[in-house]
Amino acid sequence: MARRPIIAGNWKMNNNKAAARELVDGILKGILPLDAAKMPEVVIAPTYTALWQAYDLIKNEPKVALAAQNVNPNPSGAYTGEVSLEMLADFNVKFVIIGHSERRQMFNESDEFINQKALAILNAGLTPIICCGETLEQREQGVTDAHLASQITKAFNNISEADAVKSVIAYEPIWAIGTGKSCDAVEANRTIGEIRKVIAKLYNQDVADKIRILYGGSVKPSTIVEQMAQPEIDGGLIGGASLKADSFVELIKGAM
Ligand code: 13P
Repeated sequence: MARRPIIAGNWKMNNNKAAARELVDGILKGILPLDAAKMPEVVIAPTYTALWQAYDLIKNEPKVALAAQNVNPNPSGAYTGEVSLEMLADFNVKFVIIGHSERRQMFNESDEFINQKALAILNAGLTPIICCGETLEQREQGVTDAHLASQITKAFNNISEADAVKSVIAYEPIWAIGTGKSCDAVEANRTIGEIRKVIAKLYNQDVADKIRILYGGSVKPSTIVEQMAQPEIDGGLIGGASLKADSFVELIKGAM
């Protein structure tokens, strides 16, 4: 069974209301003529403050789905500054990005906390986009595959086979994020193949064959076609190039 590609835009901490509106309007205009049957699953992850507006603009457009950039795994209560899954579901959010290196590094998020989030997201019927990736130092030390295996094994702790198969993984080498220096497509393909082997070991070959694994890190319209041509790469998690409608639409076309 072919895996349906995903093109996901992670806006990170960008876009006020006006910019969010302009971007979503531009994306909707750009994808209007595209054949839905051939399109990748298109996902945008605005900030919480732009979520209402994005929700409102896309609510009648099945070609685009919403993601959140974070969530708190607890149902409700005294968690100042946090947002729950029930609140996200209220905005028809379908995906939640977790384990992003920026949250691991700047906000000290542990593998255990990321696993808690994954379990809560799946339990609520949403889909986690579970990020993993190595530092430049780890790559140079030759420990990339072992590091990714550890991150993935911990992220999937206690996740059932039925939930694992619905989850999405994003391989984002940290040295490629925001640097303009994308990982070589053949090497990204190899690494993602290794991640798939970890999933096969944790579950079975069927889950490994079905789970979608994206590449992220300086994906651009000029790199997407080669990346999508790799058999293991099921799409992209895109930062910078998702902030302009033209380039994001080019990325969607590059995945068709
Ligand atoms: P860039 O595409 O800006 O490198 O960001 C990648 C990323 O971190 C997406 O989550």
